[in-house]
Amino acid sequence: MAITFNAEKKLFSLETRNTTYQLRIDQFGIVQHIYYGGKIYGDSDYIVRYACRGFGATISDAGTWRDYELDTISREYPTIGLGDFRAMGLILQNADGSRCVDPRYVSHSISNGKYALEGLPAIFASEKNAQTLSVITEDPVSHVQVELLYGVLPDIDIITRSVRIKNGGTEQVTLEKVASACLDLSYGAYDLLSFCGTNCRERQLQRTPIGHGRQSIGSRRGSSSHQYNPAVIVAEKGATESAGGCYGMMFVYSGNFLLEAEKTQFEQTRVIMGIQPECFQYPLAPGQVFTVPETVMTYSEHGFAMLSQRYHYAIMHHLCRGKYVNADRPVLLNSWEAAYFDFTGETIYQLAVEAAELGVELVVMDDGWFGQRNDDNSGLGDWNVNEEKLGCTLGQLIEKINALGVKFGIWFEPEMISENSDLYRAHPDWALKIPSRNPVRSRNQLLLDFSRKEVRDHIFEMMCKVLDQGNVEYVKWDMNRSMEDVWSTERCAGAVAHEYILGVYDLMERLITRYPNILLESCSGGGGRFDAGMLYYSPQIWCSDNTDALDRIKIQHGTSFFYPVPSMGSHVSVCPNHQTWRNIKFNTRGIVAMSGTFGYELNPATLPPEIKAKIKDQIIQYKECSKLIREGRYYRLTNPHESELAAWEFVSPNQKEVLLNMVIQEVHGSRDLFYVKLRGLQQQGIYKDVVTGMTYNGAALMKVGYPVPEMKGNVPAFQVRFKLSEE
Ligand code: GLA
Repeated sequence: MAITFNAEKKLFSLETRNTTYQLRIDQFGIVQHIYYGGKIYGDSDYIVRYACRGFGATISDAGTWRDYELDTISREYPTIGLGDFRAMGLILQNADGSRCVDPRYVSHSISNGKYALEGLPAIFASEKNAQTLSVITEDPVSHVQVELLYGVLPDIDIITRSVRIKNGGTEQVTLEKVASACLDLSYGAYDLLSFCGTNCRERQLQRTPIGHGRQSIGSRRGSSSHQYNPAVIVAEKGATESAGGCYGMMFVYSGNFLLEAEKTQFEQTRVIMGIQPECFQYPLAPGQVFTVPETVMTYSEHGFAMLSQRYHYAIMHHLCRGKYVNADRPVLLNSWEAAYFDFTGETIYQLAVEAAELGVELVVMDDGWFGQRNDDNSGLGDWNVNEEKLGCTLGQLIEKINALGVKFGIWFEPEMISENSDLYRAHPDWALKIPSRNPVRSRNQLLLDFSRKEVRDHIFEMMCKVLDQGNVEYVKWDMNRSMEDVWSTERCAGAVAHEYILGVYDLMERLITRYPNILLESCSGGGGRFDAGMLYYSPQIWCSDNTDALDRIKIQHGTSFFYPVPSMGSHVSVCPNHQTWRNIKFNTRGIVAMSGTFGYELNPATLPPEIKAKIKDQIIQYKECSKLIREGRYYRLTNPHESELAAWEFVSPNQKEVLLNMVIQEVHGSRDLFYVKLRGLQQQGIYKDVVTGMTYNGAALMKVGYPVPEMKGNVPAFQVRFKLSEE
């Protein structure tokens, strides 16, 4: 049993293979957090200590017992109005204008399987692989019910948390802040690892101490954003890739979010993950239920690599869906950097001819094939094939491409509308706009009001009409602006941003249900919506619009802390690179792009024959390792922000195959001699370099290290494949 209940103590234990999570119902019916961390084999409620501190506050049921202060007690779901002044999980306004919600225990249930969340992406598991704990609490005055949900996946050390808030009263209340997880740590010093950036520089690792004063990251851009990722690590001071305790919190949501971390007046730590409360006001009518997106948690006693590997496994096996998740993804060639808007059907066909010759399996026709879309100022919303531009029908183009043995994929930006489009001329009120104001434009486009079903229905119909014209095997779903003018004809402005995301999920679900064989890749100006919510619908996401291999090392390094390598779209592009104008060796570009869903973003016809020959070899090389890259355990061997050497490694689950990648980010004359220590090998094993035949003992590679070869030139890289010698 993953979940047990000690009725006498009213203590719940959530057990996974390597971790324990405990909570209890106290004498007042308040749900206290007791412990989360490495596995223990008994109760730990002795940790709770009550003490009256100056200026503390007690709930009235505690009477004259002044030691009972919720401001210092670890809680599962802190709510407003009870004398806890730390960051809150739930703030709501009652009908009388007051802000208080006092959830007291009513009942609980333990069931097999993992709860699902209606309309929201969430971790899934079979009946035998998970258990669910539901704890129902209720405010005795407003009758607002708060259901705390815990999903426990014991074999993979994952615990998920979500919350359902039901208005069980007779008057409307307004939700102002909703979170799905609170992590209260009674003592200790912790750092926060977060992933920050911007367009073309996503998910740069940042490590800061959690100190006094609330620290937060989040998004109010309508999407999870390029700027901050909705996944963080709370790590013991000094924790490293291979040692030290660390907690992961990953929000399964693609919209506005807020992560708050603070050290309290008594050196406790509180961390809260939830929906961004700024501009959020969600009216909840009597009987209505609001479901908070889930937070996926794990605890690793042995550093970040273990934490990452658990998330990678959970995402690949319990979040991503579809036939491509655990299969080889086609090597693709995308038309964007090859031609931008300047193409005809013949251009795309010629890309496919080259692709067939080189061993590329899929050609993607990116932006520019529809409506009057010859630059990024017009046409969004007009999802009609521009046959004049293509010089043929879509069906004819796809047939010709398929006849070469190449698959065909296509780009959409379903959530957008250009003011210069037939769709806008017909339905100006479908765009998100405030009627009395001029809208804020971005890339000269507006957002469609995806909180409205009729809008989604129309877009879905248009997409289907395109997809039904031929054998489309891949769709890139893009989203290229942040949200402003958050106002809708249909609902309260404070609910729109969330309902919009539910609308996106609804349309994606409809799309993958109707086209189960299509590989969906999501994108938002590169990696502006790279989150677990999106991965429920699309097993891969275009990692960044920046294809410069050197910049990509840091972007993919940061992304890898939570998201598995097969989820990261990663392509080789030409040099000088279109984003940085930098020249980087072809080999390096390949090695970096292979640590993702591999592809190309260039026009092979413009390349000299020797580079084309290299592409052919590169694809063969990739194919030889693609299973190892997809299924292997991923280890970051250096921190590329701190070391000139960037190194990372894939080790097959049976430890028989290893792929070591090394890049010298800065080349200097007479530079240091680098060594890199491998990880995850069999101590006694003999590993053979498949090219040189040289053999190494596994423990030696991990303890003595591997001597990085001397490399020169523009960002040189080196890849070594080892196989466990069976002799
Ligand atoms: C975004 C995407 C690119 C490309 C363009 C097309 O920027 O990230 O890959 O699809 O849009 O407009």
